Amino acid sequence: MFDRLLNGKRVLLGVTGGIAAYKAADLCSKLAQAGAEVDVILTEAAAKFVAPLTFAALSGRPARVDLWTSPGGDPIPHVTMAAAADTVIVAPLSANTLAKLALGLADNLLTSTLLATPIASQKPGFSEKPGFSSPDQEQGVPWILAPAMESHMWANPLTQAHAAALRARGAVVVGPGVGRLASGAQGAGRMAEPAEILAAARLALAQGGPLAGRRVVVTAGGTQEPLDPVRFLTNASSGKMGVALAEAARDLGAAATLVHAPLAVAVPFGVESVPVRTAAQMCDAVLARLPDTDILIGAAAVADFRPAEPAGQKIKKTPGQVDLVVHLTRTPDILAEVAARRAEIGRPQVVIGFAAETQDLLANAAAKLAAKKLDIIVANDVTEPGSGFGSDDNRVTLLFADGRQEALPIMPKGEVAARVLESALARLVSPH
Ligand code: C5P
Repeated sequence: MFDRLLNGKRVLLGVTGGIAAYKAADLCSKLAQAGAEVDVILTEAAAKFVAPLTFAALSGRPARVDLWTSPGGDPIPHVTMAAAADTVIVAPLSANTLAKLALGLADNLLTSTLLATPIASQKPGFSEKPGFSSPDQEQGVPWILAPAMESHMWANPLTQAHAAALRARGAVVVGPGVGRLASGAQGAGRMAEPAEILAAARLALAQGGPLAGRRVVVTAGGTQEPLDPVRFLTNASSGKMGVALAEAARDLGAAATLVHAPLAVAVPFGVESVPVRTAAQMCDAVLARLPDTDILIGAAAVADFRPAEPAGQKIKKTPGQVDLVVHLTRTPDILAEVAARRAEIGRPQVVIGFAAETQDLLANAAAKLAAKKLDIIVANDVTEPGSGFGSDDNRVTLLFADGRQEALPIMPKGEVAARVLESALARLVSPH
């Protein structure tokens, strides 16, 4: 499936000699499936592990090894490919090529091309540059390096110094991971998994996005309100919608923070995780971040009531007992607290809530929009089959403070998230 960030991007994929080169074929395939145009350059050593033909078939483009022959008739392919690149990935990166890159050697097609491709400096989540253009070649392009080698080679201070030198120039070094190595020994030196390398490349490419320099805080998951040390009251929220929102914010270049109760899915790469359990903890975590928050999205299913006095020990049943009365008390309404604080400090600039309803969807959502002083509310009929709690899709209507409404068709939560962030961005840029 095409990927918003990678679709149409020129990726220069360098492959060097090492057993992990076979995993680079998977990475090449994933990049091509995401819609990227992948120019693969192998070193001679890499071509002994995996044939260039494999990469050519996966990318649908020529895969090159030799500096001295140019299949397309281009006399200076290293300059042409360098100028066209939107991002560089070298996976696996051997100790040898790592050293050459750190020193600026140019003795084969890969090192010559990379020497002609300046490295963009990386400030995750923050960039001075507005707009959503490809990284400017004047300022360089993101370099993602995935070293893979024996643990002694990786631990060698020379190798570490070379990696540090490239990091200092802005390169992102992913891995290496710890595990079984080619020798059979355990240690640090395994190439990062293709999915992680892909995630690092996406994160780097997002940095020129329209939310660069902005912080987006999203609440997610169903809070847990303790009844005793082993039991709690909660709800059916999976946290998927909140996770999708944090991901969408990250992909637009924002620094994304997820304040979350326990989730059914993982916190995405490049998103700051602030784990909490109760409504009160979630409220504290959100309020503490308000002065730095540009956009707040309340997607958590926050308990409205909690056991007033959780038992100190596990509650026991007694013979003949037929019922147990638990006294519940109100939890803080996070978005209401945010509205009060926002009136004082003028932040966040944009606040978005969700209305998960089982009846009178739009009327209830409009009432909540006004009561919680929101800019936008995302109304969600949780009784609709295939939509809402726990599912991968959602059908929502966006209600705006000025009375506008936008009913969206059923779509994956990732698409819903992108639409919500688009609306948040529009509100941020022109508040009224
Ligand atoms: O009032 P209701 O719970 O239906 O409102 C839903 C919206 O309010 C959601 O955005 C939810 O995250 C937020 N909420 C909150 N604190 C609460 C309850 C709900 O921030 N205690």
